[in-house]
Amino acid sequence: MKNYEVKQVIKSRYSQCAAVGGVTTTCCCAGEPTASSGFAADHGLYSKEELSLVPEVSRSLSRGCGNPTGFAELQPGEVVVDFGCGAGMDVILAAHRVSPRGNVVGVDFSPQMIDRAKQAVLEARLKDVTEFVIADLEQVDIPDDFADVVTSNCVINLCPNKQAVYREIFRVLKPGGRLAISDVVYEEKINPDVQEHFQETWPGCVGGSLEEDAYFDIVTKAGFTDLHVIARHRLPPKELEEMACCPGPEFTPAPDTADLNAVQGKVASIKFTAIKPAQ
Ligand SMILES: C[S@@+](CC[C@H](N)C(=O)[O-])C[C@H]1O[C@@H](n2cnc3c(N)ncnc32)[C@H](O)[C@@H]1O
Repeated sequence: MKNYEVKQVIKSRYSQCAAVGGVTTTCCCAGEPTASSGFAADHGLYSKEELSLVPEVSRSLSRGCGNPTGFAELQPGEVVVDFGCGAGMDVILAAHRVSPRGNVVGVDFSPQMIDRAKQAVLEARLKDVTEFVIADLEQVDIPDDFADVVTSNCVINLCPNKQAVYREIFRVLKPGGRLAISDVVYEEKINPDVQEHFQETWPGCVGGSLEEDAYFDIVTKAGFTDLHVIARHRLPPKELEEMACCPGPEFTPAPDTADLNAVQGKVASIKFTAIKPAQ
């Protein structure tokens, strides 16, 4: 598939998921779909206190692999941009930390996801400190040197042109600004044939993943320094299956068991920070 075709499929799958509200099933290929209180809650990515701040519509549609606002050290008054905000889970948590003087902008190319996020900030009474932009992350309509912090949660693995996305993050950050990212990577070299099979189900959060060294090479080539891995979590079998068919098995078919077995123990979610050097 060409890059624009990959992005079309991803946009369509996540938009369908947003349209049905994400409340009917877990993001899980394993077994029968079951009622879910939301991916983030089910996987313990957020504390009870954090979850209590977030409306149901965002919780049930959350498809993250970490909790970037939990380690971004956000300060009151800061400006934050969330790349691939989905239904607004991290936008809402960031808004709580930076309000009332700060501002949070959520960017996503799925209009249906953005509609859900707008609904959520209204419910959370955070409309005054949040904005949304519908855009491809390779080219977002946000000025240069705009943000103190860019967050992103389980999104850039999906992007076929990761170089362009990291260049864009670098552009919108102020000099001295920082990023706080959760994403999925391969911890070891993967058989190219197996990787190709996963790429056929690219909208799942494994298909577009890179080996960690290649991923960090892209981050540093974009100009970032002080790259620091805060935590890593090797995906156990069930989580790997779930990740591989994100946003849910009714949208992205499960990969073959043989392919899943071939990458077992080699896929991790990582959390990291880095800095755009001050001029
Ligand atoms: C796995 S979901 C994560 C959503 C959110 N960060 C969360 O934690 O719930 C990925 C999101 O990234 C968006 N996305 C993927 N590729 C994108 C791109 N190239 N440009 C803009 N949004 C993109 C999808 O529409 C989807 O909402």
